[in-house]
Amino acid sequence: MASSGSKLVLGIETSCDESAVALLRVARPYAESEILFEQISSQIKLHQLYGGVVPELAAREHLAALPVLYSELVEKTGVNLRDIDCIAVTRGPGLKGCLMIGTDFARGLSLPNSTALIGVNHIEGHLLVPLLDNPALNFPYLALVVSGGHTELVRVSGVGEYAVLARTTDDAAGEAFDKSAHLLGFQYPGGAELAALADSLPEQALPEGLAISLPQVMRNKVDFSFSGLKTAVSLMVKREQGRLSEPGVRYHLAKAIQEAIVQALASKVRQALHAESYAALVVTGGVSANNSLRKALANLCEKEFANTRLYYPRREHCTDNATMIAFAGGLRSITNEHYDLEPLARWPVESLKAT
Ligand code: KG4
Ligand code: ZN
Repeated sequence: MASSGSKLVLGIETSCDESAVALLRVARPYAESEILFEQISSQIKLHQLYGGVVPELAAREHLAALPVLYSELVEKTGVNLRDIDCIAVTRGPGLKGCLMIGTDFARGLSLPNSTALIGVNHIEGHLLVPLLDNPALNFPYLALVVSGGHTELVRVSGVGEYAVLARTTDDAAGEAFDKSAHLLGFQYPGGAELAALADSLPEQALPEGLAISLPQVMRNKVDFSFSGLKTAVSLMVKREQGRLSEPGVRYHLAKAIQEAIVQALASKVRQALHAESYAALVVTGGVSANNSLRKALANLCEKEFANTRLYYPRREHCTDNATMIAFAGGLRSITNEHYDLEPLARWPVESLKAT
């Protein structure tokens, strides 16, 4: 049985192309929570064949992967289904067919013991998991969520207390990385590979005649937008297409693209920190693994916002995982707030209620 004040939570994530399960003892203070098991099965290799996520294939993969992941969890932890206080599963936002596999699996596991079920907002998972990984972090904080599907700046005042200050009007930052990576010839998703090329050492000299010009992204608008950059990158890469195999050309293009995306993100963070002061800035979601973004934000805080401390989730919790779903679900179940499990392709994080 769970010790008092803590809950044993099973987390399930299937919103896109990662199937994941986790078993957590979720406690207050949050940092006393314990990860008993976490495992991710990535489908990237499958979707690489098609250059992007194929929703039907993704759903089928989740269906095959979840029982295997769950058996491994039971085998490694020895947990008995009876002892699980709550099953937290991603309800949205995400691909509906994929979400449905996760929610149906959760429902099935809940049947024998009428285990409590909670549908978790995927973005809320990204927003809250830094609390698990950083004992010093407390509400309120400014959070930059940068993933393959989302780019949002959120004031996080408590569990369920989210004010979205800016979001993207078109592509997400991760998509901007991935679409550019595709143009440079990287396999899907490609964002991390583009970043690795841009950061590669030793630095390479600028090849003669290489013209690199990318626009500053939406400097004066409140929201993010990456569509102008996408067009500019596409024109630039087309212009240099014949030279992509020359030494240094792809490197310099990748560097310029990464810098444009990072500058766009950092300048919005700067605006938000000027408008309101925060003791903590949290960066979360897949793109938060990007080293150049980390450097730019560290530099910004050091130079202009010395009272703002920068936090990230652990590297393995930057990208999609079930630990963040178990954690967010656990924080909500402790206060007895439950949602139904009907999958939601769209589910704005600001529509959630405070606990
Ligand atoms: O949070 P996440 O795993 O999935 C979504 O919820 O979308 O984020 C995946 C995104 C992809 O676009 C991937 O290319 C990007 O995060 N990504 C990176 C890096 N690592 C992952 N982008 C830039 N630099 C990285 N190091
Ligand atoms: Zn995500």
